[in-house]
Amino acid sequence: MATNLRQPAVDPPSNDKRWRIVQAAMRRNGFRRDALIETLHAVQESFGYLDEESLRYVARSLHAPLSHVYGVSTFYHFFSLKPAGEHTCVVCTGTACYIKGAPGLLDAVGKEFHIGDGETTEDGKLSMLTARCLGSCGLAPAAVFDGQVAGKVNREAIVERLRAWRNGPAGAQASPESSPEKEGSAVHA
Ligand code: FES
Repeated sequence: MATNLRQPAVDPPSNDKRWRIVQAAMRRNGFRRDALIETLHAVQESFGYLDEESLRYVARSLHAPLSHVYGVSTFYHFFSLKPAGEHTCVVCTGTACYIKGAPGLLDAVGKEFHIGDGETTEDGKLSMLTARCLGSCGLAPAAVFDGQVAGKVNREAIVERLRAWRNGPAGAQASPESSPEKEGSAVHA
């Protein structure tokens, strides 16, 4: 059960700024072990899925046995231990992004690729997930394309990016100039 002890911070697996979102979730709950599900949600919403590295990090940070963390992450169907599709797009549906057009992004992807939240195209190329807040509300509506956060995404941009993925490696590399605005220095903790 909850230990309610404030634990010293553990270094995240990388310098990826999305770990700040995960750290914020843990901090908000005093690094208590009973915040495990919320923390795993933060990881999945930020990265699209839970890999071994992230599970180990969460386990260390919350001083929870790794087996327990694995148990929870495999018990609940909404956690995924690997990206289902070759490419993953996470659309933020937090309040700011919702107001700025996230529903339109989901609608555009649904119409073009026939997938909804948590679904993967039949060819296994594209998966779409939603997140409650990516921590980049100033760039709403925001999305994460294979780990790259993008802001001010519109319907055309998201469809173009996913089409490029679907058309193969050449397409996936194409047209950064037509991509949604990259977040880069605009990440907010
Ligand atoms: S609500 Fe979308 S980034 Fe915060």
